[in-house]
Amino acid sequence: MAIDFRSDTVAMPSPEMRHAMVEAPLGDDVFGDDPTTNQLLEAAAGRMGKAAATFVPSGTMGNLIGVAVNAQRGQELIADADSHVFYYETAGAAAVCGVQIRPVSTGAGVMSPEQVADAVRPRDDPHEPISAAVTFEDTHNRHGGIVWPLEALRAASDAAHREGLRVHLDGARIFNAAVALGVPAAEIAGCADTVTFCLSKGLACPIGSVFCGSEDDIEEAKRWRKRLGGGMRQVGVLAAAGLYALDHMVDRLAEDHANARTLAEGLAELPGVRCDLSRVQTNLVYFDLEKMPATVFNDECAKRGVLGGPTGPRQVRLVTHYGIEARDIQSALQVFDEVLSA
Ligand SMILES: Cc1ncc(COP(=O)(O)O)c(C=O)c1O
Repeated sequence: MAIDFRSDTVAMPSPEMRHAMVEAPLGDDVFGDDPTTNQLLEAAAGRMGKAAATFVPSGTMGNLIGVAVNAQRGQELIADADSHVFYYETAGAAAVCGVQIRPVSTGAGVMSPEQVADAVRPRDDPHEPISAAVTFEDTHNRHGGIVWPLEALRAASDAAHREGLRVHLDGARIFNAAVALGVPAAEIAGCADTVTFCLSKGLACPIGSVFCGSEDDIEEAKRWRKRLGGGMRQVGVLAAAGLYALDHMVDRLAEDHANARTLAEGLAELPGVRCDLSRVQTNLVYFDLEKMPATVFNDECAKRGVLGGPTGPRQVRLVTHYGIEARDIQSALQVFDEVLSA
């Protein structure tokens, strides 16, 4: 079987998780009747330190609802120029919510309080849109899976709130951040008004994300979820996986981080590879190839049973996750060595 580093979304549910799914008591979640979903939402809101939550099919929908709940049509949302919301969500904010994103180049994925304040439009100029909200991403995917230092996140969030902005957190991998920092996820989510986190990435659920916020935010979020076609019925079969994951799959993320570190350290020693080890803080490993296009490298590795993802002409991303073991890291490094030395 291939060693699949393309994403943590490829992680498969464990037998125990599948069992929990089969056994889950069910009801119609659009009526609020699904006991397993209700249990997940209570647990998820608790983990995020929020009053309420709603289950959504994907992180993208969760973030889109985050835009919709926090900004009105014709207003602006500030986001890192490399954020998932700006880069990879098919301009959903503009196309669906009528909200313009103002991209801010942070360079390293952490927006300073000054950058937040500078991106806010003057309120008294009728030429300019109203700045309504800001979104932060933690861990930051395109910036290497880096974790925001908690103080930096608090400072950026305080700056946003001082400016009267709402704060949405794209916490697709918030549990990776929490495990890396050794803090409860609620400490991170506490910096935001609303937060989306994904069950279907490192937590190895087949489908699902959770959007959390105040009771009012969730009332509005549910209306948006229905509008977007995301209202689901006996979704307890998926919520059961999420409940299992919150109990059993969070702490083990540390293994993925350790594997990513070993992988990155091994790669950094190979000829023609540049890998900034200081950016390898969680389960993502980005590196640049000096002598080979990323697609060629990728194809050669795939022929030898190792799958990765080119993210630029010379850049490759590898993601560790449940199902990738320490011995797979050693096998993959041998393949990388062989391909680069050929
Ligand atoms: C940081 C981040 N946010 C949001 C998403 C979107 O999640 P989904 O693929 O479930 O729509 C992803 C997916 O990779 C992501 O990496």
